[in-house]
Amino acid sequence: MAMPQAVKIVEVGPRDGLQNEKEFVATQVKIELINRLSAAGFRNVEAASFVSPKWVPQMADGTDVMAGIERRAGTIYSVLTPNMRGLEGAIAARADEIVIFGAASEAFSQKNINCSIAESIERFVPVAQAAKAQGIRVRGSVSCSLGCPYQGEVPVSSVVDVVERFAALGCDEIDIADTIGVGTPKRTREVFAAVTQVFPRERLSGHFHDTYGQALANIYAALEEGISIFHASVAGLGGCPYAKGATGNVATEDVLYLMNGLGIETGIDLAQVVEIGDFISTSIGKPNVSRAGKALLAKARSEKTTCV
Ligand code: HMG
Ligand code: MG
Repeated sequence: MAMPQAVKIVEVGPRDGLQNEKEFVATQVKIELINRLSAAGFRNVEAASFVSPKWVPQMADGTDVMAGIERRAGTIYSVLTPNMRGLEGAIAARADEIVIFGAASEAFSQKNINCSIAESIERFVPVAQAAKAQGIRVRGSVSCSLGCPYQGEVPVSSVVDVVERFAALGCDEIDIADTIGVGTPKRTREVFAAVTQVFPRERLSGHFHDTYGQALANIYAALEEGISIFHASVAGLGGCPYAKGATGNVATEDVLYLMNGLGIETGIDLAQVVEIGDFISTSIGKPNVSRAGKALLAKARSEKTTCV
């Protein structure tokens, strides 16, 4: 299959990237991060979560974050909503898109949202319906699509099953998420080949954590399956609180470098994103794990030194 000529990169750093930080990241830093990302050209930024602060304390300031950002016309600001309470917060915060998040593994569903897969779908029915009634986009995220930290192997049929249930809820987009970054390109192709049979290819996305260093290879494999939406986190920040040992999402800078090399349009300025990666890593005192980001920063700094 021909690779897409353009892709949408969904920047998930402000949510997935920061949610696992132990030290509370100041609301103002989160706001500046989101504003700088919108200015760099992202059409979709995952900005916050309206989840229980007991479960994920770092995301407790979602209302203030959403109130403080400058909305760029044409950018979709998404927030996670596990239940009706979360949806009410999302509506009040004027979110453009809500994310309902389930899992292809029973064990992970219990650990992450404290209920079975079937119960989670029941819980999402009124959430999706109410969001649609308000004209808010609905995205469904399928955790553990390529493996589970508790269950290990996850059958492709379980992923297909959850995608079908999300499709029935009216999801506009569905994420195939490799929560713990164990997937490899062969499995990635198998999963996308199967889920594209039950949901439109152009509305499926790849959400790859990079724990085993396979994320870019998996993105390439997904491109070969015609997938054109990918999630990434600036500076490679992140990790899921309920997936111990899992590292951040694939770094946005690395994905942009790959897409630029392939001649695939993203509409995003890599140089600006490299600066944002430096800003957020410095702000939270964490190493920047983007390979392209670090290389381009070092290059820019050495050029500055040699010019003076
Ligand atoms: P629960 O304890 O079963 O439910 O949590 P509960 O209804 O008993 O609520 C517990 C407390 O939280 C109560 O407070 C509720 O009021 C409050 P208390 O009475 O004890 O004072 N509460 C809320 N507060 C604010 N906003 C809400 C909300 N709901 C309840 N929306 C629940 C069930 C789903 C709430 C909980 O398990 C939860 O919030 N889980 C969120 C977990 C999470 O955010 N995980 C990370 C995001 S998913 C992810 O990273 C994966 C992804 O990146 C894809 C991938 O990589 O796989 C998307
Ligand atoms: Mg994730």
